[in-house]
Amino acid sequence: MFINLIHANLTTDKLGRKIEHFLRTDSTNNDAQELALDGAEEGTLVIADHQTSGKGRDGRKWLSVAGKSLTISIILKPGMHSYFTGWFPLMAGVAVREALAGLGLNSGLKWPNDILYLGKKLGGILCESSLKGHRLEQMIMGIGLNVNENENDLFDSTQATSYFLSTLRTIQPELVIAGILNKLEPLYRQMQDSQDFTTVKKLWTEHCCHIQKSVTFTSKNESQSGIFIGLDDRGAALVNIHNITKTYHSGDIHFLN
Ligand code: BTN
Repeated sequence: MFINLIHANLTTDKLGRKIEHFLRTDSTNNDAQELALDGAEEGTLVIADHQTSGKGRDGRKWLSVAGKSLTISIILKPGMHSYFTGWFPLMAGVAVREALAGLGLNSGLKWPNDILYLGKKLGGILCESSLKGHRLEQMIMGIGLNVNENENDLFDSTQATSYFLSTLRTIQPELVIAGILNKLEPLYRQMQDSQDFTTVKKLWTEHCCHIQKSVTFTSKNESQSGIFIGLDDRGAALVNIHNITKTYHSGDIHFLN
């Protein structure tokens, strides 16, 4: 990874101005947490060329391929009320989607943290927060994206895809990283300055793969089917089940493409 190439393509004030680059590490989210404990400033970006024990949502593993997958974490210090925590993975998803669109790939979003292309998983987000009272003191925003993997690199190419497999072009991961941070910073600033989530909500909903579609929601070992109708003011999922709107703050969605 060429850190200079990231810096040369950044238009941000804060995000990614400081970069911690690891050739090999267990999890960039863990590294970011340690760096934040040691006083790393807001916007610090952690990058691994090879992440060996990546963490996914709900205790799952996140697999990546040395030199081909993108594994990054961003240290944020939002300071806002924890009521808004649910917006962070959605905001990250929007930033990744917009960055990829700028690089010629029109991906979609799945609640709460997936980036998809033609129904296959292209990337995922893992946001880990620390509170001080009701304030969101720290948010580690971890992003894993399949970039230059071919079919043999992926654990299951019927379920997952990469930028390369979707566009038949390889790309310098540095450009993807700079693109993500450039899209993320204005969204984050708007959210932090004025608790205004309208842009994230609009962009997320516009590119949601399952809006107004029949979905099955699994949460705490319980499954229910209904129509996904959108997001509430906390970024929670609203699902219409037999004409009653149910709100989900966590869980997994399944839907037919
Ligand atoms: C998911 O889809 O379950 C979320 C996957 C998040 C993976 C990223 S890779 C960079 C960061 N470090 C981690 O250990 N996990 C996240």
